[in-house]
Amino acid sequence: MTSHHLLLLVLLAMACCHAIANDPSLLQDVCVADNTSPVHVNGFACKDAKDVVAEDFFFSGLHMAGNTSNKQGSAVTAANVVQIPGLNTMGISMVRIDYAPKGQNPPHTHPRATEILAVIEGSLYVGFVTSNPNNTLIAKVLNKGDIFVFPKGLVHFQYNYGMDNAVALAALSSQNPGVITIANSVFGSDPSISDDILAKAFQVNQNTVNWIQAQF
Ligand SMILES: *[C@@H]1O[C@H](CO)[C@@H](O)[C@H](O)[C@H]1NC(C)=O
Ligand SMILES: *[C@@H]1O[C@H](CO)[C@@H](O)[C@H](O)[C@H]1NC(C)=O
Repeated sequence: MTSHHLLLLVLLAMACCHAIANDPSLLQDVCVADNTSPVHVNGFACKDAKDVVAEDFFFSGLHMAGNTSNKQGSAVTAANVVQIPGLNTMGISMVRIDYAPKGQNPPHTHPRATEILAVIEGSLYVGFVTSNPNNTLIAKVLNKGDIFVFPKGLVHFQYNYGMDNAVALAALSSQNPGVITIANSVFGSDPSISDDILAKAFQVNQNTVNWIQAQF
């Protein structure tokens, strides 16, 4: 094989794997996160497989309602690699979300995960906004037992419009999905984004920007 052929193969291999990229695939049975390791890698260093125990794959508490006494009226209880070290390199995680009446999980994105959400109690109005075609809202009312998908990276929300509490369970296609809450990122960053920039972006005056920033 000539070096040109080899180069072509390498490029094809890269093209293939970029196209299907998600959390990296497993190269071994388990890689339980070693939170004490000083090694910094993509994910967490593996603890010695001989020291792996059942507790590494275990989390308890998803039966308990989160505290929704906050401005948004919602609470997310996460079960990802931070809580479950055995999820390291597994490309999957879960959350429980509680919603007070009129509570919402405000517009946010998960930079590394698609989310599939099931309503366990109550009803929710949910939606996401596409990037192509740009800024199209795809939204629906969900009742108990209904499932909805939020595609990876897209801005999405859930709102409990009813008079009762609502509960959802969701799975996410990353061990560490990440969350970017739009309002907090844009108006609550530290240090702040310049009010000139936000005034122009949102087509409002600087006083309005300062007022919104003061809410964070
Ligand atoms: C829920 O959160 C509120 C606000 O932080 C706090 O005052 C309250 O004590 C919490 N309730 C429980 C049961 O933890
Ligand atoms: C979508 O993008 C086009 C081109 O940039 C722009 O003219 C149009 O206003 C956008 N539509 C929405 C709904 O933002």
